[in-house]
Amino acid sequence: MSAREGFLSDIKEIRRRARQHLSEGAVTQNYGGKVEDAVALLNHAVATEIVCILRYKFHAVCATGLASEAVKEEFAQHAKEEEEHLDLLAERINQLGGKPNLNPEGVGSRAASEYAEGENLVDMIKEDLVAERVAIETYREMVRYFGDRDPTTRVLLERILAQEEEHANDMHDLLVTHEAGRCSTNSGRVRLAFVMVVGTVTLILGATPEATLEMPPIPEAGPLARPKQVGAPADATPAAIPPDNPQTPRRSRSASDCSSMVACQRMGASPAARATIPRTLSPTGNPPRSESRAASASATRRPS
Ligand SMILES: [Fe+2]
Ligand SMILES: [Fe+2]
Repeated sequence: MSAREGFLSDIKEIRRRARQHLSEGAVTQNYGGKVEDAVALLNHAVATEIVCILRYKFHAVCATGLASEAVKEEFAQHAKEEEEHLDLLAERINQLGGKPNLNPEGVGSRAASEYAEGENLVDMIKEDLVAERVAIETYREMVRYFGDRDPTTRVLLERILAQEEEHANDMHDLLVTHEAGRCSTNSGRVRLAFVMVVGTVTLILGATPEATLEMPPIPEAGPLARPKQVGAPADATPAAIPPDNPQTPRRSRSASDCSSMVACQRMGASPAARATIPRTLSPTGNPPRSESRAASASATRRPS
């Protein structure tokens, strides 16, 4: 018997069988798997989609912060697409003669993904990324299970799987963007805290708030010098501050007197303590090279 003749005899048999069990609708005798198992698996996916819809909707409404507007739109779009997945799955369950389980009771325990609200925008994105990764893994397993047993369900699941992968990619991109933003905000906070500490120290040492605001960047090193007098010639060299003397009355000093942090320390210290503080300090916290060289030379000089 040729292949064609064999197929035609099969056709007759197929026609005969099609007239039987009409109540089974789309499920025919050569359905590869167990319908009950297929429905149970699809209902598991239904619960996962419900949880995903609710989580995305919560995030779309409750995300806060200046950077959240575009992300909220993305959350809302994903919620819509998860709803489409739910519809497709429910339709397929119905085609297989099953009943989609949309009962809210116990939906969380039937789902693969979790309903996690998240503390802030980055947490929300992270939770959505985790949920998408859970969905990807479960759909991939289901695609393998249905394989040739039920090609229609497999193709449907492949379609959903492709969109879950897009969702995961979207969440990953958002996470990278917003985590980077949070890092730069944190470093900005550290810089601000440093400026506030320097400003407070300067105020305690006698500088006026105006002077603090106008305080120039801390110079690398150099001798302490008086500020130029108003009206003094442009090329006038400022006179060096005389050595500290306990008898010298304390005068009010402006922030421009603080040519370095060390100078500020010296102003506030007692005469005895001042003697222990070097006049200048390099930005690394070490004495300037000239002082350092002199110190090491005297340490290595042998007695004659
Ligand atoms: Fe989905
Ligand atoms: Fe998704």
